[in-house]
Amino acid sequence: MDRNLPIGIFDSGVGGLTVYKALHERLPNERFVYLGDTARVPYGTKSLATVERYAVENSKFLEALGIKMLVVACNTASALALPAIRRAVNVEVVGVIEPGARAAVRETPNKRIGVIATEATVQSHAYRQAISAIDRSAEVIEQACPLFVSLAEEGWSDTPVARDVAVQYLSNLNAETLGALVLGCTHYPILRKVIADVVGEGVVLIDSGQATAAEVKTFLKQSDLAHSDTSALYQERHLCDDLDHFYVTDAASRFAKVAERFLGVAPTILEAVEIWGNDELRSH
Ligand code: DGL
Repeated sequence: MDRNLPIGIFDSGVGGLTVYKALHERLPNERFVYLGDTARVPYGTKSLATVERYAVENSKFLEALGIKMLVVACNTASALALPAIRRAVNVEVVGVIEPGARAAVRETPNKRIGVIATEATVQSHAYRQAISAIDRSAEVIEQACPLFVSLAEEGWSDTPVARDVAVQYLSNLNAETLGALVLGCTHYPILRKVIADVVGEGVVLIDSGQATAAEVKTFLKQSDLAHSDTSALYQERHLCDDLDHFYVTDAASRFAKVAERFLGVAPTILEAVEIWGNDELRSH
């Protein structure tokens, strides 16, 4: 494996940029290639078979571009489709569920862990299973918060509307019921402030994307796959600079707009591609 290849990241859309940001901050010497499946988002309301199919197509697209490993930034795809993805590609695949679960078990002061995520992630109980596999005595409360995705993309993350929605969803989640709360969806770190205010100070918030970035860093080091170029070029990195390539399956200009909202900057290199229905990958 060529250690100087980029790291592939895919998400159902724009939310995975929170994971890209976490990776970029911890791994300034790495290059990234990101695919947002904006034509088929959301995944959080779809069935297992559909999410598996989309996730495998996304993974194969990135593998064909040449990547040294794949990060599945989408919690829903990580929860439902990791085995299918691992069967489909020949690179190391890291999802966000297990790193998030490990961080939650490590950081909860009382073994009571809340998980907020999409409907599909909650129904899969992937976080519950991953947490139980580490600590069988941990208690897990799962809650779907689907409206958070739209609020984040709309730029309404710190508004009274977001606060009202958070109060509704999180009424059962506070320091009396929980020690830690996993932000189990790509978009939820954008609403971190409102979520923290509503659940209260006593609850530790776990960002699965951050936990994943920390584990990816360790993996690259241990497997001798870290980028070998530590020249000034790579040390002067900025989010979304021209060393990172972004692909979407539809609506590139909306992706750029929301990216700017999430990261403060839009991708320098952003291309719309068709990744299914063709034997050969076509770009347009
Ligand atoms: N990226 C998805 C996740 O983290 C949220 C958006 C969607 O439903 O596709 O679960």
